[in-house]
Amino acid sequence: MANKWSPDSWRARPAKQQPEYPDGAQLKRVEEQLAVFPPLVFAGEARHLKARLADVAAGRSFLLQGGDCAESFAEFRANNIRDTFRVLLQMAVVLTFAGSCHVVKVGRMAGQFAKPRSDAVEVQDGVELPSYRGDIINGIEFTPEARKPDPNRLLTAYSQAAATLNLLRAFAQGGYADLHRVHRWNLGFVERSPAGERYRDMADRIAEALAFMEASGLTGATTPTINQTEFYTSHEALLLPFEQAMTRVDSTSGDWYDTSAHMLWIGDRTRQLDGGHIEFMRGVANPLGVKIGPSIAPAELLSLIEALNPANEPGRLTLIARMGSDKIGDKLPALIRAVKREGRTVVWSSDPMHGNTVKSSTGYKTRPFDRILTEVRRFFEIHQAEGSHPGGIHVEMTGQDVTECLGGAQEITESSLADRYHTHCDPRLNASQSLELAFLIAEGLRKAKNSQAQRLAAAS
Ligand code: PEP
Ligand code: CO
Repeated sequence: MANKWSPDSWRARPAKQQPEYPDGAQLKRVEEQLAVFPPLVFAGEARHLKARLADVAAGRSFLLQGGDCAESFAEFRANNIRDTFRVLLQMAVVLTFAGSCHVVKVGRMAGQFAKPRSDAVEVQDGVELPSYRGDIINGIEFTPEARKPDPNRLLTAYSQAAATLNLLRAFAQGGYADLHRVHRWNLGFVERSPAGERYRDMADRIAEALAFMEASGLTGATTPTINQTEFYTSHEALLLPFEQAMTRVDSTSGDWYDTSAHMLWIGDRTRQLDGGHIEFMRGVANPLGVKIGPSIAPAELLSLIEALNPANEPGRLTLIARMGSDKIGDKLPALIRAVKREGRTVVWSSDPMHGNTVKSSTGYKTRPFDRILTEVRRFFEIHQAEGSHPGGIHVEMTGQDVTECLGGAQEITESSLADRYHTHCDPRLNASQSLELAFLIAEGLRKAKNSQAQRLAAAS
């Protein structure tokens, strides 16, 4: 790999999944415009997140990353943003309590627009058109006009991301994230969910802890962490002209930052060592993620780590394993061992969504909740056996009551998928399934903690 990096050095490499714009001059004008627009996030914030993720890598915190598979222009509503943010906070409270550790919250929000596709074209009734690649590139309607890549979409995506971030910042800082309020929402879930009884005990204990804190004088007025929270944004850095245009030198450190989000990740389909995406990402100082699927071998993983984090900086790199519930047991242990053997510091996160996608008998792309749970459970067990830290989860979810993933306490069936199937891309957990997942992980975290405590007591 050539050592000289610049924001456009990726252009000399093959970059997968890039659209072919019919009008290159128009794209260039848009890139120039974006390049002088204000940054969406600040370098100092990205550094803060990196420090938080360093704590995760050290086993002291847990990473919760989640949101839409693909944000869309059509679904851009304050209520949708609020509801997804709210469910992430609810999940975080449950996980914080169960694991007694800080939860770092990162949304797949405010910029998650570009999608890698398995096929460059889609055929419907004998008609072939370019595949939909996310609203930042083309439109989802199956017409030649909509499917044409349009550079102006980069500007719309920028504006939507800016407005979304503005709202998220207000929600995070303005009192909406108050712990007591989040707890009341969780009580609502316990009341309404068919599986609620199972979680009542934990909800009661959270209530006791909050009452104790309040009695001890820890209130929003005295302690800002009670009614404010830190929330970060992330998306897949897929559309490189957009990411390049958002990349700026930070005047404090002199380093380059991609200011389109705090954290960026590279997808499983674009992580070629000699490809444009790795070349671009190695030069920006943001915390990075890489999705790793079942096809990756330990040696290849070590080369990726060397390319993206040669200085072994803690918090720089999150490995997001998306193996599938049937493959994680075969694949993950060897990867964990290789990373450990080489003394590499990473955050291990589990994406239990992308390896568990199936087609329902009714033709919908869906994910069985059971398989999602199985992959997460296996992820925890494997890390426990290997003596490494199961650092986080990465989920596709929404605050809306959609019917896209099968099962869960609501028992969504193949025939009910059609009721509220709204995703622009992959099937997401709905609000209830997301919380159920958080409670189930919480039970696992608690058990792991108890057995650790028992071991320590027996040894003393
Ligand atoms: C995604 O996160 O939406 C995605 C496409 O994932 P992966 O790169 O893991 O397939
Ligand atoms: Co997806």
